[in-house]
Amino acid sequence: MVRIAPSIIAGDMGMLAREVKRLDQADADMIHLDVMDGHFVPNITFGPGVVKALRPVCDLCFDTHLMLEDPVRYVRAFADAGSNRISFHIESQSPTADTLKILRRLGVSPGLALNPETPLKQVIPFLEYADFILVMTVHPGFYGQKLIVEALDKISELRHIIRSRNLDLTIEVDGGVNLANIRQVAAAGAMDFVAGSAVMKADDYAVAISALKFESGA
Ligand code: DX5
Ligand code: ZN
Repeated sequence: MVRIAPSIIAGDMGMLAREVKRLDQADADMIHLDVMDGHFVPNITFGPGVVKALRPVCDLCFDTHLMLEDPVRYVRAFADAGSNRISFHIESQSPTADTLKILRRLGVSPGLALNPETPLKQVIPFLEYADFILVMTVHPGFYGQKLIVEALDKISELRHIIRSRNLDLTIEVDGGVNLANIRQVAAAGAMDFVAGSAVMKADDYAVAISALKFESGA
């Protein structure tokens, strides 16, 4: 079963609580929360205070994606704010294995994200510490970019490794997923799909989410 995680930064940033409520009513599977620090990526979004303020709005899984230079400094704050899953980047300054272990100890599901130009082999040593790998199919920083097709090769390669080693690990894909390409992305082996513009720019979120699920072939 595929899951759709709409990214609220592509919605009305002045009305985030309303957006989360609408997504809950539209049967989103998770809420994707893109946290950017203006250092790791050239954009700034929001911090743990906003996540905490949104937490009472719904019971959906909060899928927090930290695009931070030194994420380990903030993982506790985002866990305490109510994140259920937290991913951070292997390209960040934080120690990868230790940060994944800390996330596990904090009671959140640990995820490791990698940028389009980062080879898959860099994340291989850490697979056992993570619950999911977030494969970026755009350069992080902004919603509304075009999916980089070459990054899909990493998804199929990763799926192969997961199967052959019988790992308990899911693949989330993030960036440029839409109705026209979700089938191809699902065929590569992704299970969880972040969707910024594909959902948040639609008039009817429920229609957009169910259309993405249908098109994924699941
Ligand atoms: C990019 C973010 C993505 C983005 C997704 O830095 O991590 O989650 O908001 O938006 P779309 O689906 O429009 O690429
Ligand atoms: Zn994201």
